[in-house]
Amino acid sequence: MPDSVHAIELTVNGEPHEAVVPGRQLLVHFIRDTLGLRGTHIGCDSGNCGACTVIVDGKAVKSCMQLAVQADGRALETVEGLSGPGEEPNDLQAAFTRHHALQCGYCTPGMLMSATALLEQAEELSLDEIRRGLKGNICRCTGYVNIVRAVEDVAARRGLA
Ligand code: FES
Ligand code: FES
Repeated sequence: MPDSVHAIELTVNGEPHEAVVPGRQLLVHFIRDTLGLRGTHIGCDSGNCGACTVIVDGKAVKSCMQLAVQADGRALETVEGLSGPGEEPNDLQAAFTRHHALQCGYCTPGMLMSATALLEQAEELSLDEIRRGLKGNICRCTGYVNIVRAVEDVAARRGLA
């Protein structure tokens, strides 16, 4: 049976976008293939690894578990929105560098977006809350300690810890 198509309107990293998407297109494929934003990674394609995490209306979501059409009317943020071309890395990206919070970097965009949502939603953020907030993101390289340290550092600098 042919897939239906749907017109959607959304903002992507603050810019308005219109698109026509197949009804069964996953949000992660829309982001990578239609928008060309390849910073959002695909790991497991089944909701387990968190590599595809983006922010929709302020909430971290796994974009392999949503359809593109579900983004209609929403505000989508991807890792490219954290700092634009030619801009300095934002405070969280800088903390990841300072604390050596990445090795291969495959998990990093998803980690950054989960941490971004966590830091933006919290009024206070304990170490346990940081660990819980990142538990949907798998990293096969770092052992997580430096990732948690980086987020803890930003939480302290933002007055959340
Ligand atoms: S690719 Fe989406 S959770 Fe792994
Ligand atoms: S840095 Fe390699 S998977 Fe996390």
